[in-house]
Amino acid sequence: AKFKVFITRRIPQEGIDLLETVADVEINPEDAPLPRPLLLEKAAECDAMIGVLTDRINGEFFDAAKNLKGYANYAVGYDNIDVNEATRRQIPVSNTPGVLTTATAECAWALLFSVARRVVETDHIMRSDKWTGWGPLQFIGGDIKGKTLGIVGAGRIGTEMALMSRGFDMPVLYTSSSGRTNGALEAELNAELVSFEELLKRSDFISLHAPLTPTTKHMFDESAFSLMKKTAYLINTARGPVINEADLVQALQSGEIAGAGLDVYENEPAMAPGLAELDNVVILPHIGSATKSSRTNMATMAARNIIAMLKGETPETCLNPEIFT
Ligand code: GLV
Ligand code: GLV
Repeated sequence: AKFKVFITRRIPQEGIDLLETVADVEINPEDAPLPRPLLLEKAAECDAMIGVLTDRINGEFFDAAKNLKGYANYAVGYDNIDVNEATRRQIPVSNTPGVLTTATAECAWALLFSVARRVVETDHIMRSDKWTGWGPLQFIGGDIKGKTLGIVGAGRIGTEMALMSRGFDMPVLYTSSSGRTNGALEAELNAELVSFEELLKRSDFISLHAPLTPTTKHMFDESAFSLMKKTAYLINTARGPVINEADLVQALQSGEIAGAGLDVYENEPAMAPGLAELDNVVILPHIGSATKSSRTNMATMAARNIIAMLKGETPETCLNPEIFT
């Protein structure tokens, strides 16, 4: 009999076509997160699964997944997976690094430009017919060229985002959780590795690219905002809970920082009370990786990972490769 693969949300067809060469593929027919009881039921029936960041892949999931030979996350971030629980059961798990780096870095820039130049706020003014005509003091935003860019989490995406600043002559600061220097950033941009506190104090734009871990949770809270410049902007295309969103609303309301561009939220799809009422935020519905090539390549990467797992081979982007040694 053919292998059974379940996919918790419809993904681009290229990935499904690839999987169908080795397996019978079933896909959640709803365009909505799979309800937990159904996720556990499907886990019990299938040989491998592709899931998304709203699926909690934890001990309970693996207990239900009696025949599971592998799980592929359709995301680079994998805070939704308890990798230790997978490893304990010798089940390989994978993510989709690399293929969404450019798309996510571009999304961070879209947010940076939009919030600094008040693009969304003023678009609303136009649409609501409230513009009274050109004026010298209208809608003045923040300068970008020559301003200091701070990268928190200079991994693949953070590095790419910083490298894209080249046309804007921005001094670049970065932090490193490992303490290791980033060769590309230092060679290409003369970037400077600094402490988190120094980055907060010196940056005009801070772009967040750290994974969500117990250490990074609420890294940006009231005390972090109080160290930032009043003219600084915060951009987040990583994970919502890295920011204490209630504290952010407070900081934006009180003018402790100038603005924020957000693609991710603490309790998606909800937002902290007050956030959506603020003019100095740009708020996107978690679309960092949402380009044609990025989403397609995520699908084929996840499919290739599943195919390897079904063969008992180490997948290309395995999060627990030690189980194969
Ligand atoms: C999306 O947020 C991802 O981690 O790929
Ligand atoms: C994400 O995977 C990153 O490395 O920035």
